[in-house]
Amino acid sequence: MLHILLLIPSLLNHATSSEVAPSVAVPLLADTSTLEYVHTIWRHGDRTPAEFLEPDDLKKWKEGIGELTEEGAAQQYRLGQWLRKRYGAWLDEKFNRNTIYIRSSDYNRTLMSAQANMAGLFPPIAEGLMWQPIPVHTRPKPMDKELYEEVKCPTAEAEMNAQWKSKKADAIRQKFANELKFFSEKFSLPNMELKATWRIFDNFFCEKQHNISWPVWMNSSIFERVDQLYNEVSQLEFHTETLRRLRGGTLLEEIFHRFSDKANGSLGNEAKFYAYSAHDSTIAALLATLGIFYDIYPKYATCLLIEMHKLQNQTRVIRVLHKNETDIDRLIEYSIPGCHAPCTLEGLGNDLSRYFPDDWELECGLRWNMDFAYFVISSSLLIITICSCTMLLLEKYKKKHILKFTGLGDDTVPMLAIDESD
Ligand SMILES: *[C@@H]1O[C@H](CO)[C@@H](O)[C@H](O)[C@H]1NC(C)=O
Ligand SMILES: *[C@@H]1O[C@H](CO)[C@@H](O)[C@H](O)[C@H]1NC(C)=O
Ligand SMILES: *[C@@H]1O[C@H](CO)[C@@H](O)[C@H](O)[C@H]1NC(C)=O
Ligand SMILES: *[C@@H]1O[C@H](CO)[C@@H](O)[C@H](O)[C@H]1NC(C)=O
Ligand SMILES: *[C@@H]1O[C@H](CO)[C@@H](O)[C@H](O)[C@H]1NC(C)=O
Ligand SMILES: *[C@@H]1O[C@H](CO)[C@@H](O)[C@H](O)[C@H]1NC(C)=O
Repeated sequence: MLHILLLIPSLLNHATSSEVAPSVAVPLLADTSTLEYVHTIWRHGDRTPAEFLEPDDLKKWKEGIGELTEEGAAQQYRLGQWLRKRYGAWLDEKFNRNTIYIRSSDYNRTLMSAQANMAGLFPPIAEGLMWQPIPVHTRPKPMDKELYEEVKCPTAEAEMNAQWKSKKADAIRQKFANELKFFSEKFSLPNMELKATWRIFDNFFCEKQHNISWPVWMNSSIFERVDQLYNEVSQLEFHTETLRRLRGGTLLEEIFHRFSDKANGSLGNEAKFYAYSAHDSTIAALLATLGIFYDIYPKYATCLLIEMHKLQNQTRVIRVLHKNETDIDRLIEYSIPGCHAPCTLEGLGNDLSRYFPDDWELECGLRWNMDFAYFVISSSLLIITICSCTMLLLEKYKKKHILKFTGLGDDTVPMLAIDESD
């Protein structure tokens, strides 16, 4: 009994722990004999800082703020070539609109990344134009609950605020107290909060990538600590049940339904590849929702591949693979915690559907449940009616009372009558 009791906390702990999921290296070539459908989610390529530290920083970056650089476009082009190496002739040489669909978040850097990637995946063919134009779809940020992790969702925002106040956050504050003090002095930010640290990392990281010299007080050993701090702070995101459901679950649910549609024939024979051009946070949220936690936040032009294979005995198996380093061919495959290997399509649906927010707007607190609203309105009406009737009756009763005892509608007596009824 004691054993069981001791086990419970460790099991609970496991659900929110940040242990890295086990993975194995796999061959670069896909097993196309069983491959039926692929989803890929990549992070855009090299960019300029997403937010500057000082207004003057604009001078350092000719592309502007948070924009894809030439190097970033080149990284994506190479990622497209890598996808061609993996999938080869399984994807036609010529772009086919029925086979492939590309969706990007509504940022210049992800839209441009998608185009650069497609240029690498679909190089010009010998006929016609020396270019294959490829459609890239997007949707406005306020509507993009699958690819824009900061989309308005009050429930998730409240949960994140609780994370900033958690013990885990306090432990990070303690561990990096020196660094926090150091940067709050350097940038005159009296109460530098943990959530401000990514901006410091981001600026120094971008400068390092572009050989822009750092201030004299900054050096590589301090940067190493900031890098650690950044990765640890990132582990506060998407790690609770609520954040997994409301931030990563939206995309996982969409992917699961598309696989199901493919499996039951409603997507047709030709459809086989769906790409999302998005962010580090998109990959991180999706991984966390699958129960795959990470030590290192996703890097530029890396991608996740979620493949559906149809085995000879008709079983459909889901595989999650990660090309987790920029410009390194190596691919790893994760075992999906909570979905026993081989993870079947049904298994994924059964084990992970608790993260599918079927009514996301309602759970986020963006919309009222109509049944609930109806209940509130009708009960309010009922209460108002009862109150009004009671008051009317009381009034009548008082009047009778007053008349009975005074015989006259006098000015002073009604005061007494009211006192009595209190
Ligand atoms: C895209 O680039 C334009 C400038 O060409 C800029 O005005 C705009 O703010 C950028 N938008 C996004 C969402 O990155
Ligand atoms: C930065 O410097 C390194 C080493 O000198 C070089 O390989 C790299 O191309 C440079 N990067 C940029 C963006 O100039
Ligand atoms: C970086 O700066 C810190 C503080 O000024 C110093 O203690 C450290 O030795 C420096 N490291 C390197 C590699 O220069
Ligand atoms: C296929 O499955 C999806 C949900 O998984 C369902 O909505 C759709 O109606 C099914 N289509 C057919 C043709 O069975
Ligand atoms: C990529 O995966 C390998 C193998 O699991 C791991 O050693 C490495 O740290 C990972 N890199 C990143 C950036 O996550
Ligand atoms: C189908 O084959 C796979 C792999 O050999 C096996 O794990 C699975 O149990 C089989 N499923 C059925 C329904 O026979």
